[in-house]
Amino acid sequence: MSHFVRWAGIGVCVAALAAWAVLWLDPDGLGRAFRSAGGIATQGSAPVGGPFSLVDQTGAPVTDATWRGRWMIVYFGYTTCPDVCPTELQTIAAALDALGRQAAQVVPIFITVDPGRDTPARLADYVKLFDDRLVGLTGTAQQIDTVARAYRVYYAKVTPKESTTYLMDHSSFMYLMGPDGTLRALFRPGTSAQELAGAIRSRLPPAS
Ligand code: NI
Repeated sequence: MSHFVRWAGIGVCVAALAAWAVLWLDPDGLGRAFRSAGGIATQGSAPVGGPFSLVDQTGAPVTDATWRGRWMIVYFGYTTCPDVCPTELQTIAAALDALGRQAAQVVPIFITVDPGRDTPARLADYVKLFDDRLVGLTGTAQQIDTVARAYRVYYAKVTPKESTTYLMDHSSFMYLMGPDGTLRALFRPGTSAQELAGAIRSRLPPAS
């Protein structure tokens, strides 16, 4: 059964990438900026991100302005993701380690696309598996829909045949947001921790 779930998960991830490609290949969209910038979209190239209102893994309400003044690395996923989410969160944690003291300027944020199952308590257990600095955010279905739209995240509930539980089909990019809350860079799934750390470091002021 777990074997099946794993393969179903991989299938869902492939479907998510295909869906993402269709969704984002609009002429004025992020897809163009992303491709032309060789995988890294810079500030002002596309309207990505925006206001949101969610709760963190302690149950405290937060908004997009909560971390204004610090950099944010934002990733969307869900705690029962069989494959891609854990890999990407490990990459983010390793990139923070590689940044050393400069990591204090960066807040890693994991936003669930599965608010029906990902309660604050569940997120609290999950994020600490990866890094103590990782913030987990959830909210109502409407709040999650709002933030996903702002970040152009594709997500959908999928129940594989013969499975009693559902998976979330979702796009899997990492977003680097600047201290003013605007998009500074976008990273493909599979980006290495070294690449991620290097791209963040190149944008940060030197550690004092
Ligand atoms: Ni995932």
